[in-house]
Amino acid sequence: MSKITEALSMCDKDAVDPIVASLIEKEPEPLTRASVPATAAAPVREPRAIPPAPAAAEPPAPGSGAPIAARTCALHLPGFAPLMPFGEADWAAGEQYRMARTRIIQHPRQPRLMVITSPAPGDGKTVSAINLAGALSLMSEGKVLLADGDFRRSSIHALLGLPKTPGFADVLRGTCKVEDALIQVEQSPNLYILPAGEAWANPSELLDSAHWSHVAATLRSTFQYVIIDSPSIGVVADYDLIQAACDGVLLVLRPDHTKRGLAFQAVDSVPKEKLVGVMLNCVRERFFYKHHLSGYYPLVASTGRALNQKTVERGMAQDLSRRPPAGEAKCIPT
Ligand SMILES: Nc1ncnc2c1ncn2[C@@H]1O[C@H](COP(=O)(O)OP(=O)(O)OP(=O)(O)O)[C@@H](O)[C@H]1O
Ligand SMILES: [Mg+2]
Repeated sequence: MSKITEALSMCDKDAVDPIVASLIEKEPEPLTRASVPATAAAPVREPRAIPPAPAAAEPPAPGSGAPIAARTCALHLPGFAPLMPFGEADWAAGEQYRMARTRIIQHPRQPRLMVITSPAPGDGKTVSAINLAGALSLMSEGKVLLADGDFRRSSIHALLGLPKTPGFADVLRGTCKVEDALIQVEQSPNLYILPAGEAWANPSELLDSAHWSHVAATLRSTFQYVIIDSPSIGVVADYDLIQAACDGVLLVLRPDHTKRGLAFQAVDSVPKEKLVGVMLNCVRERFFYKHHLSGYYPLVASTGRALNQKTVERGMAQDLSRRPPAGEAKCIPT
C-alpha cells in the first residue's frame, strides 16, 4: 500500500470524499508471490461514471446582454428625407445598405465601434449613419447603437423626431449616465439612439478626455455595433478624437458633391488599419452599369450597388468629368 493510500485509509472513511474513497478502494495491492491468489478471481467492480467536467462558460456575444433600462421613443421620419429605406417601395436603396451591412459583418477585422465621416459637409454622413444603423439592427441579434457625435451640427434627433437631450455631450460632461441618455426605438427594439445632447463646452474638449475612452469602452461592451455620426474630416478636431477610440472608419463620398482632391486627401488621412470601407452616396444609376466590380472594400450608394475601392477612384474621376492630373492619381489604400 502506498504511503498516500495508507494515510487516507487511516482517516475516518465516512469523512472521506466519495471520489477519494473510490481511489482508496481501487488502488491495487503490489503484486508479491505470496499475495497472488492461485485461483480466486478479483471481484469485478462496476466502472464508476466520472461526472463530466463543467463546460467552460461561453462569453456572451457583445450586445446580447441584459436589456438596457432606456427610455423608449417612436421614430417619426419626415417624408422628404431618404431615411430607413427598408420597405418595398425603396427596396433598391435598402438593398445597398443591406450589402454594406453584410460587408461590415463579414469584415476580417470585425469592427464594432465605427465612426462615419466624409471630406465635407453635406456628403451624406448623417443619412448614411442612420440607414446603416437601421440595416444592422434589422439583422443583428445584439443591440445596435446610433450615436450623434456631430455636436456642432447635430441632426439625428431632428431627422428621427426624437428629443435632443439628454445625450452624448451630457454623458461626456459627466452630468448623465449612458443609460439615461439612450433611447430605445419603439419600432425596432434592437436599435438604440444616443442623441447629441447639449454641448455647452467646446466639443473637442469634451472628447479630449479620459472619460471619452471610458464611455467608448462602455459602448463597446454594451452593443454589438456602434455607428457614430461625426463632423467632416479635417474641419475640427472632433472627428480625430472620436476616431481615436473607434476600431473602424466608414468614409462617405458623394460623387455629385465631394471635391475629388478632398476625397483623396480624406482617404489618405484615415488610418489604413481602420478604414472599413467607403460608401458612395447618391450615385447615379449609369455609374453602376459602367463599373460593376466586386472587391474587398464595401462601397454602397443610395441607388447603386456594392463596389470595390478602385471604383471609387474611377467613379470620383468620371463623375466629376475630369481625369486626374498626372502624378495626382492615387489608389485608395488596400
Ligand atoms: N442618399 C441620399 N438620397 C437623397 N438625399 C440625400 C442622400 N444623402 C443625403 N441626402 C441629402 O443631402 C443633405 C445632406 O445630407 P446629410 O445631412 O446626411 O449630410 P452630412 O454629411 O451629414 O452633412 P453635415 O456635414 O452638414 O452634417 C440632406 O438634405 C439629405 O437629405
Ligand atoms: Mg450630418
